[in-house]
Amino acid sequence: MIPADVLPQSKAAIAAALAEARERTLGLVAPLDDEQLNTVYSPILSPLAWDLGHIANFEELWLVQAIGGREPLHGDRRRFYDAIENPRKVRGELPILRDAELRSYMADVRDRTLDVLEGVEIGAGVEDPLLRDGFVYEMLLAHELQHNETMLQLLQLVDGYELPPAIEAERELVVPLSPISRQRNHGTAPAAETVAIAAGEYEIGAPDRGFAYDNERPRHTVELAAFEIDRTPAGNGAYIAFMEETGTEPPLYWDRDGDRWVDTARGRREPIDPAVPVIHVSWQQADAFARWAGKRLPTEFEWEAARPQLDGLGHGWEWTSSDFLAYPGFEAFPYREYSEVFFGEEHRVLRGSSWATHPRVARPSFRNWDLPQRNQIFSGIRCARNA
Ligand SMILES: [Fe+2]
Repeated sequence: MIPADVLPQSKAAIAAALAEARERTLGLVAPLDDEQLNTVYSPILSPLAWDLGHIANFEELWLVQAIGGREPLHGDRRRFYDAIENPRKVRGELPILRDAELRSYMADVRDRTLDVLEGVEIGAGVEDPLLRDGFVYEMLLAHELQHNETMLQLLQLVDGYELPPAIEAERELVVPLSPISRQRNHGTAPAAETVAIAAGEYEIGAPDRGFAYDNERPRHTVELAAFEIDRTPAGNGAYIAFMEETGTEPPLYWDRDGDRWVDTARGRREPIDPAVPVIHVSWQQADAFARWAGKRLPTEFEWEAARPQLDGLGHGWEWTSSDFLAYPGFEAFPYREYSEVFFGEEHRVLRGSSWATHPRVARPSFRNWDLPQRNQIFSGIRCARNA
């Protein structure tokens, strides 16, 4: 696998990475039939057929039309795949491509993408910023892999769905906390070992070179007061203690089974492991948990400054107290609708990655964002406090 911060050096590497991402996408839906792909399982999640068509349409728009100068295969059908124009709750009723037509569209776009790739220049000296260092290809890979995570959110609602073995292995890999963390999270004690971060100036954001989204730039310096941050994310055991004491709602997919809690995602009823980091909590739940523990959520800058010193990363995204705002000097690239239209006080930033995040997408400067009430995302909690 190519590390996330290194752009593909050759056209062969780009083609291989595109194929790998597509194999992952199709692997996710392989156990499902056409009816399941077209089903609206939740008003806040797209039917999978929309995601698949949108992935191919986004590829066609950027890799075939924008840089190849070609006409689209389905005329103005693309307007139904515009994520801003078509809110998730209406996507099941749109005249989108379905079934065999959808599969052949995905394959036809990919053929054209590879054909265009043959003829473009992607080196460091190329004038077009879309093509320089192969930026647009890395953007497309990230887009498809990020949609894989959205698809996995929906797949939690499909009874009997089994994760592809490779993704199940990734999930198993990041679930366990270290033995000491397991012990800490097992009991009712919310106390966790903390890392002290000194007051000072910290560099935040992505460097100029290499792939990153516009909202991660420009890299800039922020002044932070001294703070402490938990070495591990909050565990299920600590969250259960919090629920029992305060009567707070359980995370999404939890159900009571006698005197224990079970995870009902994908139609299973698996006992909740107290030592695993809690996920599927809203920002409000995360914030309330942190206060209950005598702490607070970190700001996104504190999170990024502390990032290299933490363990237990990667099971769930971690809510921060920060609104999703532009960095000073922000410039939208390559399109306003990726992040600029979401800036404001409505969305909170999440940092890190989850078990459903492809490693290519996870990087310390990556900013995820969502509405504070959302919990269908793989979202967890890490606490901080003033030093
Ligand atoms: Fe998208």
